[in-house]
Amino acid sequence: MFKKGMLVVCTLALTGLAQPALAQDMDSLKSEAAKTTAGFGEALKEELVNAMSAQGPVAAIGVCNEKAPGIAKAKSQNGWQVGRTSLKLRNQKNAPDAWEQATLAEFEARKAKGEAPDKLAKAEIVTMNGQKSFRFMKAIPTAPMCLNCHGKELKPEVSAKLDALYPNDHARGFADGDLRGAFTLSKNL
Ligand code: HEC
Repeated sequence: MFKKGMLVVCTLALTGLAQPALAQDMDSLKSEAAKTTAGFGEALKEELVNAMSAQGPVAAIGVCNEKAPGIAKAKSQNGWQVGRTSLKLRNQKNAPDAWEQATLAEFEARKAKGEAPDKLAKAEIVTMNGQKSFRFMKAIPTAPMCLNCHGKELKPEVSAKLDALYPNDHARGFADGDLRGAFTLSKNL
C-alpha cells in the first residue's frame, strides 16, 4: 500500500512540473508560427497585387511561379520550414504529407460546421519517423482576386499559360470563400 501511494505522489509531482514548461513552449512556438505565417502571407500578397495591377494576370502567373517558392525559402529561417499546400494542387511540389492532408480535411469539416475560414488553424507536436516536430497550419480562404487564376471561368490566355506551366493543374474551379489551401510550418524539436 505504501509503495503504491508513493508512486501516485511521484507521478503527480512529475506531471505537475512537466506540464507548465510544455504549455509555455507550445505558446511561444504558436506565436512564432503565427507571426511567420502572417509575414509570409503579406509578402506573397504584395508581390501578387503589384504584379496583377502592373502587368495583369498572365504576367502575374510568372510571378507566382517564380517568386512564391523563393519567398517560402526566404521565410524558412531559424529552423522553420515554411510553405503552402492544398488538397487541390497546382504545383506538385506543394503536395501535403499525411499530417497536412488530415489537417486540410479537418479544416474542411470545421468550415462545414460553421467556423470562419480565416480563423481555421491547428498546432500540434508530432513524432514522425522518430523525429519530433512542432507543426502548424493556417487555412487560406479564396478571395475574389484569386479567382483570376483559381476560379471556374478563366480568361483563355490565363488558361493557356497555366496549361503550359502546370499540365496537372487541379487548382481551378474555386469560388469566393472556399478553402484554397493552407500555410504549413514545421520546426524540428
Ligand atoms: C496570377 C495568377 C494567380 C493568382 C491571382 C493567384 N494565384 Fe495562387 N497560384 C498561382 C500559381 C501559378 C501557383 C503555383 C505556384 C508554384 O509553382 O509554387 C499558385 C499556387 C497557389 C497555392 C499553393 C498550392 C498549390 O496549389 O500549388 C495556394 C495555396 C494559392 N495559390 C492560393 C492563392 C490565393 C489564396 C490567391 C488569392 C489571394 C491566389 N492564389 C491568387 C497563380 C495565382
